[in-house]
Amino acid sequence: LHTLAPSSEAYPPARPLVLGFSQLGSESDWREANTTSIKEAAEEAGIELLFENAEQSQEKQFEAIRSFIDKRVDVIAIAPVVHSGWDEILTEAKQAGIPVIITDRSIDISDPSLYVTHIGADLYEEGVKAGKYLLDKMRDQEAPIGIVELRGTEGSSPSIQRGKGFQDTIKGYDEYRMLDSETADFTMEKGKQVMKTFLRKHGSEIRVLFAHNDDMALGAIEAIEEYGLRPGKDIVIISVDGTRKAFEKLVLGKINCVVECNPLLGPNIMQAVQELAAGRTLPKRIVSSESVFTEQMAEKEVGNRKY
Ligand code: AHR
Repeated sequence: LHTLAPSSEAYPPARPLVLGFSQLGSESDWREANTTSIKEAAEEAGIELLFENAEQSQEKQFEAIRSFIDKRVDVIAIAPVVHSGWDEILTEAKQAGIPVIITDRSIDISDPSLYVTHIGADLYEEGVKAGKYLLDKMRDQEAPIGIVELRGTEGSSPSIQRGKGFQDTIKGYDEYRMLDSETADFTMEKGKQVMKTFLRKHGSEIRVLFAHNDDMALGAIEAIEEYGLRPGKDIVIISVDGTRKAFEKLVLGKINCVVECNPLLGPNIMQAVQELAAGRTLPKRIVSSESVFTEQMAEKEVGNRKY
């Protein structure tokens, strides 16, 4: 089991705990909310936060983690940009005796003892929820039902797992046909750009858009309107996150379904840091609870959105 370094000090230490946090970037409203939540929760908990934004680069995450090791922080938390490639750097952290929390996205690692816990959503389940909504919504519709997919960052766990959960749920239903699937990096700008290409290629064959996050869906809505179709009516739109901006589109019927992914993980992370400091063992997986919202529920919920 991990304990807090350095070993000469009493635990919990008589000074503020120090957390090094490697954030993967600032690509979306979800990410901004996640960063704010972490900063606010650290302040509230009296934890000193060393925060580094890697701007979508795994290499920069490695640099940040190495700097945290050099500074001998008490705990390192990482929101990993991609799924694989973490074995070596986490081994370095383990050798330095610093416990690592993985948050938000998951990692693919050969030795699970290299991190203490993973705090975040069940990303595969989000894709399943999106698929189930689609099956329900299109139950009585005429075949073929052409789908396009806007994927998130290539190699990232939300993109891999949401995509897989969605595919696994609709496979075996012959009326559904995946027309196109492209990455749009989880950004609104790219979402618009890639949706334009889809529309040029497939036109009115597109009956459904599954966007791996709200920002890309918002960009796609602009592309669909500019093309002269009605988002939410001519093209059913399913998206993931649950930002306030997406909810506003849900109220207008321009998005049909939003699968929630909770970015407000700061309090859970700070609690984990404190528990580690108190010598407690954490569950290997801490999953945030999340809902699915449809047009019918949007009006009631839009005012409650915190991000
Ligand atoms: O990892 C979570 C995903 O990353 C969110 O769905 C997306 O908006 C963000 O960029």
